[in-house]
Amino acid sequence: MIERPRRLRQTPALRSLVAETRLHPRDLVLPVFVADGIDAPAPIASMPGVVHHTLVSVVEVARRCVDAGLGGIMLFGVPRDRDKDATGSGGIDPQGILNVALRTVRDAVGDDLVVMADTCLDEFTDHGHCGVVDDRGRVDNDATNELYAAMAVAQARAGAHVVAPSGMMDGQVAVIREALDSEGFTDTVILAYAAKYASAFYGPFREAVQSSLQGDRRTYQQDSANIVESLREIDLDIAEGADIVMVKPAMSYLDVVAAAAERASVPVAAYQVSGEYSMIQAAAANGWIDLRGAALESITSIRRAGAQIVLTYFALDVAEWLA
Ligand code: PBG
Repeated sequence: MIERPRRLRQTPALRSLVAETRLHPRDLVLPVFVADGIDAPAPIASMPGVVHHTLVSVVEVARRCVDAGLGGIMLFGVPRDRDKDATGSGGIDPQGILNVALRTVRDAVGDDLVVMADTCLDEFTDHGHCGVVDDRGRVDNDATNELYAAMAVAQARAGAHVVAPSGMMDGQVAVIREALDSEGFTDTVILAYAAKYASAFYGPFREAVQSSLQGDRRTYQQDSANIVESLREIDLDIAEGADIVMVKPAMSYLDVVAAAAERASVPVAAYQVSGEYSMIQAAAANGWIDLRGAALESITSIRRAGAQIVLTYFALDVAEWLA
């Protein structure tokens, strides 16, 4: 026998030498939730190990991200119910929870960590949709884009290095780029959720942001049956000025991640979403799978498929496990 593939699997050192994919904290981004009107971090029942942060605890976690050598932090705001309205104005208000959190975190970490902002209205609207709803109950694409533009400018002004439009409105990247440039924020990076699917795996996130959504997002997020549509979305976002494109969710869409990596002339990110995280946590809590093994394997697979950057709620754990 000439070919013996097992030769290269004999010892941990040999296996590591020939490993084709490596995890590194620098490739990981930690998504965090910052809630208004709470005075201590509050656990999120559907996401074991994840909390609603206060403005104080989010700074602590951002500093831990710097110390762990993570690539970035992605901030989501959780406003009080009474601050939600039909147009999500709390997302644009400089005193809104997300903009205050961005300012606070950026002041604390400077340029040592890439500070990212979710640019979407769903956390801030009382109806829970990602945009404004017209009198026939439809999400109004172009009116929503105007609000995204104002939101992105407010986030850049608050100190975000990266704005991440996640609402899947047509033309959102172009409108945001133009608004940022006209306000002098030519260096603010756009990470576009280019291929974002209407997914059951966002379930725990909706609890995390206390979403009031009635109905679903299927008129703007993509159908899980499609991949050609994702390539179109990716091409459009790059043509509109996206600096990084993202596929979301990750684990059920590794073919899309691979196709995006093959096609895109910009870095590709993938988001291991709340449901993907909580499935692993729940199975591990029952003793059915090994938490560390399953988490590392899933994130390695996302990297192997072609994502250069992975957003994952496991980011700090991974950094610790790798250390
Ligand atoms: C929309 C948004 C969603 C997530 C992040 N931003 C999903 C949605 O409710 O449609 C999901 C993140 C996750 O599930 O971890 N602003």
